[in-house]
Amino acid sequence: MEPIVAGNWKMNKEPGESRALVQRLMELVGDYKDRLVILIPPFTSLPSIGELVRNSRMKLGGQNMHWERSGAYTGEISGFFLKAVGCEYVVIGHSERRHIMGETDDMINRKLRLALEIGLIPIFCIGETEKERESGKTETVIARQIKEGLKDIENEAHKIVFAYEPVWAIGTGKTATPRQAAEMHQYIRGMIKKPSTILYGGSVKPENIDSLMKQEEIQGVLVGGASLKPESFTRIIRFE
Ligand code: PGA
Repeated sequence: MEPIVAGNWKMNKEPGESRALVQRLMELVGDYKDRLVILIPPFTSLPSIGELVRNSRMKLGGQNMHWERSGAYTGEISGFFLKAVGCEYVVIGHSERRHIMGETDDMINRKLRLALEIGLIPIFCIGETEKERESGKTETVIARQIKEGLKDIENEAHKIVFAYEPVWAIGTGKTATPRQAAEMHQYIRGMIKKPSTILYGGSVKPENIDSLMKQEEIQGVLVGGASLKPESFTRIIRFE
């Protein structure tokens, strides 16, 4: 499969800015072959971006979804709504949701199950904090996140895109070295057994994309900050 370059805009870009960014991206790399580009804008931009990319090679993803199909969950978004506006992907368990919004492995497991049930491809994020790495707990934490996250759906791991995102590398400018990332990817692959796509995320930028993508273990990237500017995101898509 072609390498994935996913851009998570987080809580940035109101609908007008989102459109402008995508229009520019389409001029620069709209029909770029050999890469699967996934745009993950805020919910309010999804309908209009969905229209823009409908006949292009770019794909659309949501940043989160609820574990129930519908109901009294004020402020939440149903996976069905994401599908209705053209999403094929959904990010689940992003570290900002785990650490700022208090999402637990159990909530993440329920979200993963529903996403698979309704035909959304989850981009399942896992990663250790700086403190956990320093105290030698990286593998224990990753193992727990995978085990709990995949509870009762272990056999469907091949339908999930994994994203290894060390928390200490997200938005900090500190990137895992290609070797550190490759080592963890190998560990994750060993745990999930089935062949799955594993992305790296955490301060991916034009300066480090080429060396990251040279690692055989890394099948793509999940980009935050550097996906907000058309020039830097384009350079990442065109990695060498
Ligand atoms: P960053 O974010 O590229 O800004 O570090 C990555 C992510 O949170 O997915």
